[in-house]
Amino acid sequence: MNSTVIPDATRSAARPAPPPSSVPTPVLGSALIGREEEELVLSVLRSKALFRYYGPDPTSPPLMVATLEREFAAMIGTKFALGVTSGSAALEVALGALGVGPGDEVIVPAWSWVSCFTAIVRVGGKPVLAEIDDTLCLAPGEVTRLRTARTKAVMVIHFQGVAADLDPIVAEARAARIAVLEDCAESPGASYRGRPVGSLGDIAIFSFQQQKTITAGEGGLVATNDPRLFERAVRMHDLGQWRDFHAAQIEAREPAFCGSQFRMSELTGAVALAQMRRIDRIRAHCRMLSARLRQGIGGLPGLTFRRIPDPAGDSGFETYFWVATEELRDAFRAGLQAAAIPCQQMTGTYAQYRRAYVATGLAHAPGATPFHLGAAWPEAAYRAESFPRTEGLIHRFVVIPVGVTHTEAHIDYIAATIRHLHSELGVG
Ligand SMILES: Cc1ncc(COP(=O)(O)O)c(C=O)c1O
Repeated sequence: MNSTVIPDATRSAARPAPPPSSVPTPVLGSALIGREEEELVLSVLRSKALFRYYGPDPTSPPLMVATLEREFAAMIGTKFALGVTSGSAALEVALGALGVGPGDEVIVPAWSWVSCFTAIVRVGGKPVLAEIDDTLCLAPGEVTRLRTARTKAVMVIHFQGVAADLDPIVAEARAARIAVLEDCAESPGASYRGRPVGSLGDIAIFSFQQQKTITAGEGGLVATNDPRLFERAVRMHDLGQWRDFHAAQIEAREPAFCGSQFRMSELTGAVALAQMRRIDRIRAHCRMLSARLRQGIGGLPGLTFRRIPDPAGDSGFETYFWVATEELRDAFRAGLQAAAIPCQQMTGTYAQYRRAYVATGLAHAPGATPFHLGAAWPEAAYRAESFPRTEGLIHRFVVIPVGVTHTEAHIDYIAATIRHLHSELGVG
C-alpha cells in the first residue's frame, strides 16, 4: 500500500465556487411522492378494502396490487408479476419457487446486500460466494468455476442501477443447467442490450424499500415468464394457497405445499403503482446528470470508471470511479465531504465474508445452518483472502450518488471539485 498522499499546493487548480444551492442528499422516488400517490392511497382507504384478494364489496374487487402487477409485468416484459412485502421476502419467494432447499447451493456475489445471502440460508440452501469484476456485479466465469452437482441457481445482482454482464453469465448457467435469479432490487428501469432487467433470467425480484429507485417504504415484487415458477411463487407467498384471482390467470398444476405469508397490502400496492409510473422520469434525469458528470471528469489520469456492460441501459444514479490506493480514496472522500458533496453509496452493500452472520455461520436454529460449523469455520470460501478480485475492487472506489433533486449546476460543481481534488492530490 502506498503512503498517504500529501496535497501539493503548487499544482492545485482554483477551488470551485459553490453552486447556487447546496448539493442535496441524493433521493430518488421518495422525493417525488405527491398527488398521484395520495389519490391512489385515498381511493384504497375510501374503498375500505386494504387486503389484496377481497374487500367488503364483492362486486368491486381490490385493484391496486393487481394493477401494479399487470403494469409492472408489461413494463419489464414478463408474463407474470407478483407483489410481496419486501425485496427480501421476494428473494425467499423466488428461491422457494425454484425449489431451493437443504442440500442445494446457490452462487451469489460476495459483494451483495444482506438478504442476498440470508434469504438462501432462510430457505435451507447454502450460499456459495463468488467474485465480482469491475462492473461491481458477478464476474463471468464464476458460475463455471463454482458450480457443483448441488448447485441449483445463481443469483445475479444488478448492482445500483447497472445490469450485470448477463449474456456470458446466462450462457454459463444454461450450460450448467442451473436457474438464473435476477436480483433487480437496486435497478428497476435498467436494461441490458435492449431488454429490461428482470426479464432475462428465470425469475427476478424487485424492492420498493425507502432508498430504492421507486418506493412504498417497504414492498417487493417477483417476476417471471414461467407459469410453473409463478404458481410456486404464489403458493410460497400465500401459505401454499391458490386463490380464484390466480385461477383466473392460469390453471394450477402444482401440488400445494407449506408456504409463507408475504402478501402485499393494497396500501403498499397503491404507492408502488404511482411510483412505478414515475420510473422513466427518474431514470432520464439521473442518466442526464451522470452523463454530464462523466463528461466533466472523464479522461483525468489515474481515475477509472466502473465498467457498465451496456451503457444504454444504465439508470445513472451512482457513478463509481477507482483511484490507485485506499489512502487516495480516503483523501478524495474527505475532500468531497469538506466541499459538502455526499459521497456515500445509497446501499449498505459490503463483502458478505465480513458480516457477523457469516462469522458465526448460524441460522435461526442450530440444525438449520447449511454450513459445517466447527474449529475450521469460517472455511476458506467464506474468508476475505479467497476473494482477491473483489478485495482489489472494493477498497479504492469513490462514488457520486445523484438524485431527482440534483441539478446540472450541482453536477458542474461536483465535477469541478473532483478536478480540483485530482490536481490538489497530485493524482495520475
Ligand atoms: C440487492 C438487494 N437485494 C435485496 C434487497 C432487499 O430488499 P428489501 O429491503 O425490500 O427487503 C436489497 C435491499 O437493499 C438489495 O439491495
